[in-house]
Parts: sequence; C-alpha cells; structure tokens
Amino acid sequence: MQRVTLKDKTFVPYITSDKILASVKVMAQKINADLTDDMPLFLVVLNGSFMFAADLLKEVTIPCEICFIKLASYHGTSSTGTVTEMIGLTDEIKGRTVVVVEDIVDTGITLEKLVTLLTKKEVKQIKVASFLLKPDAYTKTLKIDYVGMEIPNDFVVGYGLDYDGLGRNMKDIFVLDKNVDSK
Ligand code: IMP
Ligand code: MG
Repeated sequence: MQRVTLKDKTFVPYITSDKILASVKVMAQKINADLTDDMPLFLVVLNGSFMFAADLLKEVTIPCEICFIKLASYHGTSSTGTVTEMIGLTDEIKGRTVVVVEDIVDTGITLEKLVTLLTKKEVKQIKVASFLLKPDAYTKTLKIDYVGMEIPNDFVVGYGLDYDGLGRNMKDIFVLDKNVDSK
C-alpha cells in the first residue's frame, strides 16, 4: 500500500482491506446470532456507510430489510438552534427493530441526534453498528452494540470515509500523516 495525497494532506496506510473484511464478517455473525427472529430494518446512514453496509449486509443471512437515509442539518427558527432531519426513510418503522449502520462514531453527536429522531417514531428497539469507533473522542453514553474496530483520535479516510469529499472509494483505510501535515 502506498501513501496517498488528497488535496493538501498526505495519508499513510492504516487498515488493509483484508483486515476490514475479516472484522466486518465477525460483526455480521454477531448480528445474525442476536437478531435471528427480529426481521430487523437496517438503516444505512449515507454517504460514508455505503461501502461498509454493502460488505456487512452480504454477510447478514437473517431475514431483514435495508433502507438508506441521509441526515440534514438546518438552523431552525426556534431557539433550539440546529435541527437535524432524516431524509429518505420510506419504511414504516414503528414497532420494529432498527439497526443503524454507521461508518464511524467520533464524538457521537450525529448518532445521538439520529437515535432521538428514531425514538420519536416509536421503534421497538435500536441497535447500532459502526465500523469504526474513536473511544477517546466519544462524549456520549449510548451503547454502540457492534463495533468493527476501535481507533485512536486520528483522522482517517477510505472505505467510505472522506477528506473534503475525496477518498471514499479506497478499499483500505488510511490515516493522516502527522509528520507531513501539522496544520
Ligand atoms: P460525530 O462526531 O460522531 O458526530 O461524527 C460525525 C461524522 O464525522 C461522521 O459520521 C463522519 O462522517 C465524520 N468523521 C468523524 N471522524 C472522521 C474521520 O476520521 N474521517 C472522516 N470522517 C470522519
Ligand atoms: Mg457518517
């Protein structure tokens, strides 16, 4: 694996595709065992999760449905400030087991907002599957049920994750080369 440059930053190889896929397989096996009779609805959070979701769901063998959503933030007119909205949810989710599929949980702010929105829709239970988790950055208490890998608080790209829109298509994960980019 070569280092890559995306715009003004250089990234070095971090997690190979083989390791990623092995870890995704283990996640899927846990989900298969836990949710066998739940007919879960996988809620894939775009854009970042597209690659992880495809690999994960190829290994999920239990009956399930899959829906793709996007989160949009806008400033509401009330004093509450930023409002987050879920776009693309077409399935009826009341009373269902929902598995949120995320590429990465960093501070957990995004995830908490999504879970709040889902709770309002009276789902039966919410499970969270995130390929990456940065435990040192995580500020929330919500349990992440399925985690592929825990990583330090460093910026990574590839496997769906982007730097300024670039790098999502890389099948391996790269980390910012701090020796080159100190800015
Ligand atoms: P949060 O801080 O948990 O709300 O993370 C919000 C979003 O930031 C994630 O869904 C990613 O899109 C993005 N993000 C967080 N850490 C990284 C990273 O290391 N590389 C690329 N995107 C990231
Ligand atoms: Mg994301």
